[in-house]
Amino acid sequence: MVVVSGSNSRALAQDLANELGWEHRSLEVRRFPDSEGYIRIPDDSITSVRSEPVILVSNTFPDAGIVETLLMLEALNDLRKGRTENLREIGPQSMDDVGPGVLLAIPYFGYSRQDKRFNPGEAISAQAIGRLLSAHCDGIIVFDLHAPSALEDMPVPVAFTSAMPEIAAHLQSTIAPDFILSPDKGAIERASAVAEAIGLPFSYLEKTRIDAHTIIHKAKNLDVDGKVVAIVDDMIATGGTICKAADALRKQGAKEVHAACTHGLFTGGAINRLVRHVDGVHATSSLTNSRAVISGGPALARGVRELLAGL
Ligand code: R5P
Repeated sequence: MVVVSGSNSRALAQDLANELGWEHRSLEVRRFPDSEGYIRIPDDSITSVRSEPVILVSNTFPDAGIVETLLMLEALNDLRKGRTENLREIGPQSMDDVGPGVLLAIPYFGYSRQDKRFNPGEAISAQAIGRLLSAHCDGIIVFDLHAPSALEDMPVPVAFTSAMPEIAAHLQSTIAPDFILSPDKGAIERASAVAEAIGLPFSYLEKTRIDAHTIIHKAKNLDVDGKVVAIVDDMIATGGTICKAADALRKQGAKEVHAACTHGLFTGGAINRLVRHVDGVHATSSLTNSRAVISGGPALARGVRELLAGL
């Protein structure tokens, strides 16, 4: 079987292929001078993508990633259906339809945070993107989706996978934490999975977000005096959530504070902000950045196996 990738997830696609023992092929991706994208499945990959189910690894972030993902899905579907007619009349103009088998693995699902209609008139963006992608593939694997409920009732099967086992193993072997903290109620399930995997005490904070850059945490007594604490979240964007939680931990005597997440978005100078508040930042390779120290390959492989088992 084959794993293919476009421009935004090549290294992770290779890791996934290694985990599964499959081959990895890079699709051709270019940009026209006006910034529009162009994709093509190279001639020497045509047989591979038609022979067995194919996994496309692609982020729907930033926005260009959505378009690139859709174009790659379209090209994969065309090839599997045998639609090869082209203006230059190169090669056979049609082939047999080899049936469904285009699966999409999304390391970072952009728009996942608009998972509800918070005010009348809003689009539920996570659902809108989910439906768009579902119309072009036969199944989806999503990596630590902010709110999995947003992709309930999609017309194709969706497998949810998580990096918490790998984050737990990484934290244990690098910083040996004494305590795990969830910076808000939304991350309790993920952070407590890390605490349970290492066998550590766990707590959470109650967060109110005033706006994208302003966070308030309700005061809470935490037993962290003299301890190494890891704050675990699904994503870090501006870093505001982590910085506020780290300050609360320091005030209560924490000796070292680390931040760990699946998706390191690190927007608007977040790393510079974070290093003033925490001793270390640890992210998976769902997005490319200087803190992507944990491979997302094993988690994606679990998702692929689960999806294939259910098809
Ligand atoms: C929100 O509920 C998420 O789990 C993260 O806590 C949030 O997106 C982090 O954003 P920021 O780094 O901007 O505070």
